[in-house]
Amino acid sequence: MSGNKDGNMNHTPIAATFNCPPILLSGGGSSNELGNLAKRLRGSRILLITDKFLVNKGIASRFVDLLRSADVDAEIFSDIQPDPTDANVRAGVEACRNLNADAIVSLGGGSPIDAGKVVAVSAAHEGPIRQFQGYHQVPKKGLPFIAIPTTAGTGSEVTKVAVITDTERNIKMMMLDEYLMPDAAIVDYELSMSMPPALTANVGVDTLTHGIEAFVSHKANLMTDPLALSCIRLSASNLESAYHKPNSREAREAMAMAACHGGLAFANSSVCLVHGMSRPIGAVYHLPHGLSNAVLLPEVTRFSIHGARARYAQISRTMGLSTEYHSDEEASELLIKGLESQNNTLKIPKLGECLNITKKEFLKGLDKMATDALDSGSPANNPVVPTKAEIIEIYKRAF
Ligand SMILES: NC(=O)c1ccc[n+]([C@@H]2O[C@H](COP(=O)([O-])OP(=O)(O)OC[C@H]3O[C@@H](n4cnc5c(N)ncnc54)[C@H](O)[C@@H]3O)[C@@H](O)[C@H]2O)c1
Ligand SMILES: [Fe+2]
Repeated sequence: MSGNKDGNMNHTPIAATFNCPPILLSGGGSSNELGNLAKRLRGSRILLITDKFLVNKGIASRFVDLLRSADVDAEIFSDIQPDPTDANVRAGVEACRNLNADAIVSLGGGSPIDAGKVVAVSAAHEGPIRQFQGYHQVPKKGLPFIAIPTTAGTGSEVTKVAVITDTERNIKMMMLDEYLMPDAAIVDYELSMSMPPALTANVGVDTLTHGIEAFVSHKANLMTDPLALSCIRLSASNLESAYHKPNSREAREAMAMAACHGGLAFANSSVCLVHGMSRPIGAVYHLPHGLSNAVLLPEVTRFSIHGARARYAQISRTMGLSTEYHSDEEASELLIKGLESQNNTLKIPKLGECLNITKKEFLKGLDKMATDALDSGSPANNPVVPTKAEIIEIYKRAF
């Protein structure tokens, strides 16, 4: 993609790669197929990576029973914290070696799925986890890996991306490589129905952000555009329903698909400035990933809009915030208002309200956060590529 003098974006002939899992099962109840799927991937001893919530709710053991009834041995590993760390991954690799596992299944939100991806590749490599940080740094394929999301969500089930916190350097490491792509994903929206409203809101705005950033990224292409717009349309029509009516199957199913389409879009295009800036917030203040994005989305959109007016206007119309009778200028301004109003409806606080620190304390950490944001590479894909000073300014405004 390239920008013209009006700040709109034109398709230019670039070589765009598209990766997705070879097998994707979707639909209510589809996770009951796990046993058959594990056998198809020749798994006979499976480490099921999940978190404490899914163990305590008895959901993880239901999947172990499913596997065992298909004659597949399985054990649970659940020492995964939200926004998983290198220590979580190392413990998972040890559990994997102790079991002599020949396949991994992750059950949960983006945290157990990302951790599972890195456990699966680490089992095939020596050396520290940070060797995988960055783009295309995984030398060879790991164990067969199946992802079953229970949030809607990160879309991690269909991405070649994993995000793991490096506890020594206090940064969230972004890893992108084809070998991190799950061999199979099962998107069963019924698993997401237990999400409480605040979690639904946080992960749902993450989903919408994936669609928006994939569509305005410099790396957007003709394969990712339809998926990004589908993610945006489904999120705009269903996120508030899923938030207000948690038992709505229609809204939950649509958000599960939105997350999946958003994942396919951003992993083959790119995320941009919102994600670049949200990772340092997660690393330093341990704010959940979706919430860190949500608090930044309106301000980052305001900053970026003049770099891709036509594209932001199309997002605005796709979300039903404006019509074809509005100019691109009007439509894109209505998008900012719409995103602010959505945050109010979903009771997303301002950044300062989430952090429980004074503005003075916040200001002290901004230099490192802005440097880490730029170093992640994501801001380089933004319609307007920010300077460090501009990133600091956006953090201040979002506070
Ligand atoms: N790999 C990718 O492509 C990608 C994309 C975006 C985000 N991420 C990463 O994903 C992580 C965030 O994942 P997340 O937002 O899905 O949250 P999460 O996995 O951290 O889960 C958040 C909380 O929700 C609970 N939970 C999970 N499913 C539930 C359900 N059905 N009902 C009730 N509670 C449930 C969990 O137990 C946990 O307490 C971050 O580390 C982020 O960096 C990865
Ligand atoms: Fe995200």
